[in-house]
Amino acid sequence: MTALTLSTAGAATLRADALVVGVAKSGKGLVVAPGAEAVDEAFDGRLAAVLETLGAAGAEGEATKLPAPAGLKAPVVLAVGLGSAPEDGAYGTEVLRRAAGTAARTLHGAKKAAFALPVATAEDAEAIAEGALLGAYAYTAYQDSKNGKDAKKPLAEVALLGAKPRDKAHKAAAERAQALTEEINRARDLINMPPNDLYPETFAAVVTAVGKEHGLKVQVLDEKALEKGGYGGILGVGKGAARGPRLVRVAYTHPKAEKTLALVGKGITYDSGGISLKPAGHNETMKCDMSGAAAVFAAVVAAARIGLAVNVTGWLALAENMPSGNATRPGDVLRMYSGKTVEVLNTDAEGRLVLADALTRASEENPDAIVDVATLTGAMVLALGHRRFGIMANDDDYRTAIHEIAEEVGEDSWPMPLPSDLRKGMDSPTADIANMGERMGGGMVAGLFLQEFVGEGITWAHLDIAGPAFHEGAPYGYTPKGGTGSAVRTLVKLAEKTADGEL
Ligand code: BES
Ligand code: ZN
Ligand code: ZN
Repeated sequence: MTALTLSTAGAATLRADALVVGVAKSGKGLVVAPGAEAVDEAFDGRLAAVLETLGAAGAEGEATKLPAPAGLKAPVVLAVGLGSAPEDGAYGTEVLRRAAGTAARTLHGAKKAAFALPVATAEDAEAIAEGALLGAYAYTAYQDSKNGKDAKKPLAEVALLGAKPRDKAHKAAAERAQALTEEINRARDLINMPPNDLYPETFAAVVTAVGKEHGLKVQVLDEKALEKGGYGGILGVGKGAARGPRLVRVAYTHPKAEKTLALVGKGITYDSGGISLKPAGHNETMKCDMSGAAAVFAAVVAAARIGLAVNVTGWLALAENMPSGNATRPGDVLRMYSGKTVEVLNTDAEGRLVLADALTRASEENPDAIVDVATLTGAMVLALGHRRFGIMANDDDYRTAIHEIAEEVGEDSWPMPLPSDLRKGMDSPTADIANMGERMGGGMVAGLFLQEFVGEGITWAHLDIAGPAFHEGAPYGYTPKGGTGSAVRTLVKLAEKTADGEL
């Protein structure tokens, strides 16, 4: 866990292993961003010129290390690119977040880094702290050979310069960033954990333990309880696996809360496709199919740690989707928790089945809104690519609000419709509905399926995070390889705005 401190020390006087500064492109070439004036002075005002001779252009994602001159207490200066220098001097928060992430990643193995990036507002300080603490993340739990005492460790301490430790807003920003990023990193750990160790029972045990630590109410329905309750969707998906499914309710309540937000997460700890087995090349990363549940869990804990004045109830629909002699077959009909019957035409469309039961159950408590999060469809990845999630909703204003919130916190997303003409593709000759419809527009078909299990009159949104949940390419900014923690920042901001009465 990386520690965060706000420091009033000057950039030249703070002892650290590295000093992080920002550089940007301007009409006159490279410029040093505000916050690093003392560093530039130590270079006799030639920092930008020196960096240019090293090939730095100030582009986003760029990181240039150089030895520090006498006069600085840190041995190394790391210049990170901030893109084009803004005319009004206000760097965007996501630019700062990413640059801080790039710096923390580049400094893997160092103990302490001082960040002298431009801080004009408490929001800037928060973004830099978030980026640094997310960028410092590394998943090494299973790399025994690398875990010796000589192994490089993530950056241990981030000192934020330019933020004001005695300013209430700045202090709150730092505390919020620390709580939020620790929970995002916990979600990443859960997503990255191999599915032979993370399965419904062990996932539920983590929620129980962490929930206890933070004063949350946790209830776990095991197979027996699911049978008794008639949760045909969750049971049907979990049937083929040796390890049984769970439905976990994790609730944060605030004494002054006026609203309750329900969050529902898809928690398929491994998606083999079941009897409709996925072909080779499509299941190697399917441990990530519980990213929605991980995001919901992280958001509930973060809301509690930040102390938001809203009730947030998380519902984690946990199952392992495996083929076996006991598995649900294509052609089987499930009786769902809602009482509706579903003909399973493709056992690989399992996410909507577990979510359906959780949505119905969440609706019984009559929350002010329900938001579900799921790595639901390959179709959404085809539509929006790997960096943005799709947002669907039964209320256009709510969908727009979530899209704007995501934008505000630096998560890329896009609104998608729920066209009713796609519903007839799921008509079943045998049951009330089939779990598959037209192939084209598959992300929206899945959204329409879910909508049928949301309680009458309840505002609902669905985030399909199949694209951004798991990052297979090279790390960039604060995004590591593997689990990303997609949607957590959006959910927490949504809870915050719900608490503030803005929604
Ligand atoms: N877990 C997958 C969706 C997925 C794809 C997540 C790629 C992350 C990356 C989901 O359960 C699935 O297999 N959906 C099917 C549905 C189809 C059979 C109707 C799909 O998208 O192909
Ligand atoms: Zn599937
Ligand atoms: Zn799945």
